Amino acid sequence: MTAWHATVLTLFPEMFPGPLGASLAGRGLREGLWRLDALDIRAFGIGRHRSVDDTPFGGGAGMVLRPDVVDAACGAALAEAPDRPLVALTPRGEPLTQSTVRDLAAGPGAVLLCGRYEGVDQRVVEARGMREISVGDYVLSGGEAAAIVLLDACVRLLPGVMGAAESAVEESFAAGDLLEYPHYTRPAEWNGLRVPEALLSGHHAEIGRWRRAEAERATRERRPDLWARHAGDPPPTAAEEGRAPAPLAARPDAA
Ligand code: ADE
Repeated sequence: MTAWHATVLTLFPEMFPGPLGASLAGRGLREGLWRLDALDIRAFGIGRHRSVDDTPFGGGAGMVLRPDVVDAACGAALAEAPDRPLVALTPRGEPLTQSTVRDLAAGPGAVLLCGRYEGVDQRVVEARGMREISVGDYVLSGGEAAAIVLLDACVRLLPGVMGAAESAVEESFAAGDLLEYPHYTRPAEWNGLRVPEALLSGHHAEIGRWRRAEAERATRERRPDLWARHAGDPPPTAAEEGRAPAPLAARPDAA
């Protein structure tokens, strides 16, 4: 079995492994439970100056990564392990969810394209059938931090990376689409604040009921979108969520 294999296409390869070299992901990397390559997009640049970008057609601020350069970088990444999905990190993408993370972690790995400047020429995104993914409704200075977020979420699900205790957290999110209940540890009283009595009872059924109620309350109060889905509403359409529809290649019904 070959290890789960991530290749990051970036203008800043020195950003990797970064935080992924520490803690559980880092230990997994050193133990060969997964593999990470950072490929410098500039190595595929054009001419003596290894040019990677140009001004946008139609005008406007910033620079756009050239399709020929990005395509060459994709080709090099896929030459080694061609069966991996291509993901472009962009605030225009579909929101990253635990379900997408689970799908990616169950596959052979991923090739992650980190945009910089104003973005990437859309023709290569579509020609390569990239899945465009966003890590949230805010704008980062580039896709690198987003790639680290996505990889961290995937890698913790790989066999052997985490112990059984932590995997249970994923199970609870998976089962109910609820936020987690709050946690407490010793001392039972701190600065005059007591741990909720139900948790001190030692009564498993009571603890279970308390945690369930707190998970539901947190979800209802903080994430009405998750709560509506949990309560059985049909999922909102892309238009209702105010985002662009996922590219055809990313849709489960696309051939
Ligand atoms: N690049 C810049 N902002 C981003 C975001 N929110 N998600 C993914 N990639 C990005």
